[in-house]
Amino acid sequence: MTFSRAIKIAPSILAADFANFGAECAAVEAQGADWVHVDVMDGHFVPNISFGPTTCAAIRPHIKGVMDVHLMIAPVDPYIDAFAQAGADIITAHVEAGPHIHRTLQAIRASGAKAGVALNPGTPAEAVAPLLDVTDMVCVMTVNPGFGGQKFIDMTDKVRTLRSMIGDRPIHIEIDGGVDPTTAPQLAQAGADVLVAGSAVFKGGSATNPAPYGENIRAIRAAAEGTYT
Ligand code: DX5
Ligand code: ZN
Repeated sequence: MTFSRAIKIAPSILAADFANFGAECAAVEAQGADWVHVDVMDGHFVPNISFGPTTCAAIRPHIKGVMDVHLMIAPVDPYIDAFAQAGADIITAHVEAGPHIHRTLQAIRASGAKAGVALNPGTPAEAVAPLLDVTDMVCVMTVNPGFGGQKFIDMTDKVRTLRSMIGDRPIHIEIDGGVDPTTAPQLAQAGADVLVAGSAVFKGGSATNPAPYGENIRAIRAAAEGTYT
C-alpha cells in the first residue's frame, strides 16, 4: 500500500447481500471501488452482530485491493491475529473499546496490518494526539456505530482539527457513516481521503446488476473531488 491523499471510496459490505459477499466485493471493485470496508460487530461494543474473522478470510480471495476491517468489538487484542491472518490490510480499533488503545495499535502493526483508530461521534479529535506515532489511519465516525443507513452526524470540525494535527504524517482520515454525494464534499474539503459508504453505494444494484454501484461510486467521488453537478 503506497500512501496517497487522493480520494478513496470504500463501500461497506454491511449494505451488501450477506448471502453473496464474494460476488458483491468483486462487483464493487469492478465498478470502481478503491477499498472494501468490512464491518465487524460483536453485540457488546455495539448493539448489533455482523460476522467475524472466518467470514473475512472467506471473502479475502474475492478482493483484489485493500481489505479495510473495522472492528466494533471489545476486547480487541485477543482477535487481532485472527483478522490479520484472515488477510486484513488495515485493522481499525475504537479508542473507546478499552483502556489500552496504544497497545492495541502496536499489536495491530506487529501483526503485519496497518493500524487504524476510530472515534465515536462523542469522542474528541484530541483523543488520538498521543497515538499518532502508532497510527496509519484515523476513522471519524459520522454515525453512532452499529447499523448502516443511519442519519449523518456532522463531524466536519473534528476532521479539520485532525487534518491539522496530522500535518505531513502519512495518516489517512476515513469517514464512516451516512456518506453520500451531499455529505462528501465538506468532508473531503476538511481533509478526509477515505470515504466509507454502505447504503449510498449498494442502493439500486446487485451483483448481477452492478452498473448502479458504478454510478453511485462515481457520484460520491465526483462530489468529493468537487466536480459533482
Ligand atoms: C456503522 C458502520 C458503517 C456503516 C456505513 O456502524 O461502521 O461502516 O455500514 O453505512 P452507511 O453508509 O449506510 O451509513
Ligand atoms: Zn465501518
